[in-house]
Amino acid sequence: MKRLILASHNKDKIREFEALLAPLNYAVFGMRSVGFEDEIVEDGSSFIENSVIKARALKKAFPHDAVLADDSGLSIEALGGEPGIYSARFGGEEMPYASKFDLIWQRLKATGLAEEEWRAYFTACLCLIEEDGALRIFEDQVHGLILPEPRGAAGFGYDPIFFCQEVGKSFAELSSEEKNCCSHRAKASRALLRYLDARDRH
Ligand code: IMP
Repeated sequence: MKRLILASHNKDKIREFEALLAPLNYAVFGMRSVGFEDEIVEDGSSFIENSVIKARALKKAFPHDAVLADDSGLSIEALGGEPGIYSARFGGEEMPYASKFDLIWQRLKATGLAEEEWRAYFTACLCLIEEDGALRIFEDQVHGLILPEPRGAAGFGYDPIFFCQEVGKSFAELSSEEKNCCSHRAKASRALLRYLDARDRH
């Protein structure tokens, strides 16, 4: 079994990658389970930079292991890409998502754009640093529109206000299986899996 350390403390995320990578014979470890407690300052200016910062910090502590970091968020075109890399912190870390939505609608209405123009996309960026130090990025996006009111009760974060054009529903109206077919994270993860699978066959 190969070992991969994930730059995350988030149990759901660790479980998600465990399930994804188990068929390829990878054992996934979260940072805490390998004793990494340092706080990593994500001060990059893009999803890629932030994922690289996290992966490099972890690789420094575990130079012989493969490490993986991810960064993701929602970008709204009419708001110049906001909240983007600040998605979790938008309006303040403690602000509930219902209030984050209000803030977004307030700003979008102020642009004077029609609701059909409220284009947005989620990005997921994965940074893998391999055992030998090679760094690889897997990034993907899913496009949609910001809804003028929340729809659906599943998912997390901005899911209720993100209308996915590909499936014709909000992300919060999708089962986790459905979201795992079309989400930004699913697409980027599939690219990572394809890469690891091909690499390990040689
Ligand atoms: P992180 O990459 O896990 O730090 O996620 C950053 C933030 O982006 C999350 O806290 C959410 O606010 C937002 N986000 C990322 N992916 C999703 C998603 O699939 N649905 C809803 N919100 C998301």
